[in-house]
Formats: sequence, C-alpha cells, structure tokens
Amino acid sequence: MASEPAHQQALPLVTIRDFHFGRDTEAVLRFQVETYETNFPGLRVTETFLRDYRRQLRRVSRQWNEGLFVVDDGRGPCGFLWIGLISTMVSPTIGYIKNIYIRPDLRGQGWGRELLRTAEKWAAERGATEIELDASVCNPEAVRMYENAGYATRRLRMGKDLARDHGP
Ligand SMILES: CC(C)(COP(=O)(O)OP(=O)(O)OC[C@H]1O[C@@H](n2cnc3c(N)ncnc32)[C@H](O)[C@@H]1OP(=O)(O)O)[C@@H](O)C(=O)NCCC(=O)NCCS
Repeated sequence: MASEPAHQQALPLVTIRDFHFGRDTEAVLRFQVETYETNFPGLRVTETFLRDYRRQLRRVSRQWNEGLFVVDDGRGPCGFLWIGLISTMVSPTIGYIKNIYIRPDLRGQGWGRELLRTAEKWAAERGATEIELDASVCNPEAVRMYENAGYATRRLRMGKDLARDHGP
C-alpha cells in the first residue's frame, strides 16, 4: 500500500503515562547518561552506575511513596519523571523531584513543564503541601524551567572539593 503524503500522516500522540519496569527501563537508563553527566560535571556514568540505577528503579516501582512516569510518543519513552515523598524535621510530607528528563528532540515544547505539573499533582494528592528538588547551577535551562514554574531557591547546598587542601 502506498504511504500517505507527509501532510496527511497522523502526528505521533505524545502522552504521559506510568512507568513500566519491564518495558521502559532500558530507555530510562539511557537518559541517565546525559542527566547525570550534565548535572554532575566530571562524573562518568558507568555500567556499574546503571546497574545500581536499574536496581533502584525495580525497588521503587513497587512503592506507594514513589511515583515513576514516562513521556511516550507512541514508540516508547522520550521523557522520564521520578517523584517521591520525603519527610524532614520541619515538614512531615514533602514531594521531592528526583529525576526529570526530556529527550533533546522534544525539548522546548512544554513537556518538561508538563512533567512538573504531573509531579505536583501526584504529590498534592498524597498529602504533600510542598514540593522540592535539587538543581545544579551548571544547568541554567533546568533552573529557568523551575523558576518559570514558580519554584524559588530556599536553601543553598554548598560544596567544596577537598582534594586541594586535604588530598594526599
Ligand atoms: C530541563 C529539561 C527537562 C527541560 O525540558 P523541556 O521539555 O525542554 O522544558 P519545557 O519545554 O517545558 O520548557 C520549560 C521552561 O524551561 C526553560 N527552558 C527550557 N529549555 C531552555 C533552554 N534551552 N534555554 C533556556 N530556557 C529553557 C524555559 O524557561 C521554559 O519556560 P517557558 O516555556 O515559560 O519559556 C530538559 O532540558 C532536559 O531533559 N535536560 C536534561 C536532563 C536534566 O538536566 N534534567 C534536570 C535535572 S535537575
């Protein structure tokens, strides 16, 4: 059968759906190379790292207090969200975004923002009154996304490389 002209072909329907460990893990692991190497300069994502990440995905995909979602374009995952509930001494129930990713060809179309909305709804439905995340200062695109979505810096996580002053 002749294929349809380009302008008549249906656009792929992009949706956000629950993560499925068996079907989605390989794609989600591939996303982690960019996510971690961008946000932690100098880090190399190794096979061991990915093996541990896979183990974590398997564990948390069965837990009520962890939410895993993918953006799917009909051919498989092209984005990922991991949101969990945490409690601290000052707040018993906080939503915490652990991972958010959109594949490069889908960026700039609002899908990152849509994943943020999914995270906020998921956390609010489970009793969270706040949502938090850690962002890397070396990733201004992500920081801008959070700021434009209403997130503000509340505390700074400060760090120092110990090798120069205290190395061997
Ligand atoms: C951060 C990331 C999820 C954004 O996804 P996205 O789908 O492109 O984001 P959106 O299209 O929803 O854009 C949301 C906001 O982000 C900002 N933004 C996104 N890409 C940007 C870019 N290249 N330059 C400047 N701002 C950008 C914009 O402010 C935009 O808000 P606006 O639409 O009101 O202008 C995506 O770049 C990504 O997956 N990066 C790699 C993984 C990563 O670093 N994750 C963050 C870990 S903290």
